[in-house]
Amino acid sequence: MSRTVAPSSYCDSSPTMVGRIHELERLLALLSVARAGRPSFVLLGGEAGIGKTTLAEALTREARRAGANVLTGRCYDLTMTPPYGPWTELLRSVALTPQRSGDLNGAQTQLDLFEHVWEIIARMAADQPLVLVLEDLHWADQASLDLLRFVGRRAESAPTLLALLVIATYRDDALRQQQLLSQMLAALVREARAERISLHPFDRATTETFLRTRYTLPKADESRLVEYLLTRGDGNPFFMSELLRSLEDEWMLRQSDAGWRVADLNRVRIPAIIRQVLDTRVARLTPRHSPHSGLPQSSVKMWGLFCGIPSAGWTIRNSRISSMRLLKRGCWWRCQTEVDSASAMR
Ligand SMILES: Nc1ncnc2c1ncn2[C@@H]1O[C@H](COP(=O)(O)OP(=O)(O)OP(=O)(O)O)[C@@H](O)[C@H]1O
Ligand SMILES: [Mg+2]
Repeated sequence: MSRTVAPSSYCDSSPTMVGRIHELERLLALLSVARAGRPSFVLLGGEAGIGKTTLAEALTREARRAGANVLTGRCYDLTMTPPYGPWTELLRSVALTPQRSGDLNGAQTQLDLFEHVWEIIARMAADQPLVLVLEDLHWADQASLDLLRFVGRRAESAPTLLALLVIATYRDDALRQQQLLSQMLAALVREARAERISLHPFDRATTETFLRTRYTLPKADESRLVEYLLTRGDGNPFFMSELLRSLEDEWMLRQSDAGWRVADLNRVRIPAIIRQVLDTRVARLTPRHSPHSGLPQSSVKMWGLFCGIPSAGWTIRNSRISSMRLLKRGCWWRCQTEVDSASAMR
């Protein structure tokens, strides 16, 4: 019998990005346009875990290599979001000279402050190519969104050449609840000619590559695992990474002297992290929910699979499943039962 080793090889901080070739090419093209002095805006959307940050980081690595200055500011899922939070973070690293002070506290009015920030950006972008990354706009405060729109308008009408690329990421599955963000994105497209790039789930070929960057498996095992990842992880790299991690933890995916092997995948538990993500989404499904609202298809499908509810017969409208239909079919009760029993095990 072969000797087995502890499951420890999986590393989700792997910098290997698979797929996203067209999207990266488009971003690189926009970077070139920006470096030539024409400011560019990109709105990078996609569901949670689909790879927005990974792609933005791939672009910023290239930008740095090409001599650009990169500043990043993030929004956080806080109960109290500090005004201008992402901008403060983004400008914190800017050298504090009188001409380039990144301190936002001195301004008397909002317009002063916006002008001040724009001056800093414009001056930097006139000196050296500048890439601004604003992450997770779905959590942004109103003031930060207003400032982004202001920067967009100023960049579009700048009288001189500015080597500026702005990348803003957001979860598009959160847009339904985020009227202000939806309006702001539309305004950026209109006023700053921002380009929207949407990230979609991995297809089979990309999922195979994704798996091969981590494991070398016999062909039959690889096919089973790809099928499993596509069915349960729905092509979402975050979900698929967590499924792999969980399989390793459960020793369903393990390494022996003979190499990696995959066990019987029919009896696998939901990884805790995926339970948490789905838990949050399912929690939005209350009986008071509008009949037109819905869950992203992937999360519903996963619940269906893990709860043993066949997806056949569900109505799929605009790639979303009506939450009321789910409620009517008793899925809410069954999902809730699963969440409760899962919580008890934690
Ligand atoms: N193209 C890719 N190739 C390989 N792995 C990827 C890719 N995209 C994402 N991943 C993996 O999926 C995980 C989630 O990706 P990422 O954080 O970029 O998603 P996101 O869309 O920014 O999510 P969120 O909405 O939560 O910010 C990453 O840790 C990474 O391991
Ligand atoms: Mg992200």
